[in-house]
Amino acid sequence: MILLDGKLLSAQIKQEIATDVAEIKAQGGKIPHLVAILVGTAGRSEAYVASKMKSCEEVGMHSTLIRFDDDVTEADLLAAVEDVNANPDMDGLIVQLPLPKHINPDKVMEAIAPEKDVDGFHPINIGRMAKGLPAYVSATPQGILEMLKRYDISTTGKHCVVVGRSQIVGLPMSILMQRNDYPGNCTVTLTHSKTTNLAEICRTADILIAALGRPEFITADMVKDGAVVIDVGLERVVDATKKSGFALKGDVKFDEVAPKTTYITPVPGGVGLMTICSLMQNTVKAARREVYK
Ligand code: GUN
Repeated sequence: MILLDGKLLSAQIKQEIATDVAEIKAQGGKIPHLVAILVGTAGRSEAYVASKMKSCEEVGMHSTLIRFDDDVTEADLLAAVEDVNANPDMDGLIVQLPLPKHINPDKVMEAIAPEKDVDGFHPINIGRMAKGLPAYVSATPQGILEMLKRYDISTTGKHCVVVGRSQIVGLPMSILMQRNDYPGNCTVTLTHSKTTNLAEICRTADILIAALGRPEFITADMVKDGAVVIDVGLERVVDATKKSGFALKGDVKFDEVAPKTTYITPVPGGVGLMTICSLMQNTVKAARREVYK
């Protein structure tokens, strides 16, 4: 079993991005600038966004955080998006999800200019990605592809089972793994909460991507010997043995699953760190106008 080390890879990728940014700077080019809009203080969003902003600073990129209270109106939020769209100094924009119930996330995603949508959530980017055209690809799926590539994991002809059909991870992941490219060329099964015989289907996976958001849901009996297991989950569970009172768990029961696998991602220290790298890579692409000329 080989651990897919997100910590190691993300450190390498950050170094590569820092070199790119230094080069842009040396040539008098535009320093990539990522803007994040954060609404409220609930859940883990604040910590995620802080980590994104900090990573940008570490590689020499510019970052701006725009904050709103939970009771911000949809109109005010959309106006803020429009301001960023119109600001030529700002290259990439993310609006951290989830948003409060009174705001329609689809409306907000669609308001982001596709050429600044470095999260790849705009329907135009999702459509372009699905067609294999240049597009911003959602950060977590892109980070997983990068991981498979850098560990030289073979994917052609393999059966890839994706568990979870979220717009952010499961759905784009399933599309990317079937495309005629590397990593890709898999036979893909996209499973979800209404899937019957889920355990049986998972047992046929050469590559199992768990992105359903249920701690330790994937157990050893659901995994084929020699499978590659990618764990996208990251949830807090109560753990009295920890000083903080909680532990971070993935969607995979790591201790019992890991010995059966050829490759597996740890949680934390796996996919999560790759996600931030993808976001920064997309922002560099945005500053260089690589996707939309
Ligand atoms: N919430 C959870 N993951 C993400 C992400 O990748 N981007 C945004 N904008 N919100 C999220």
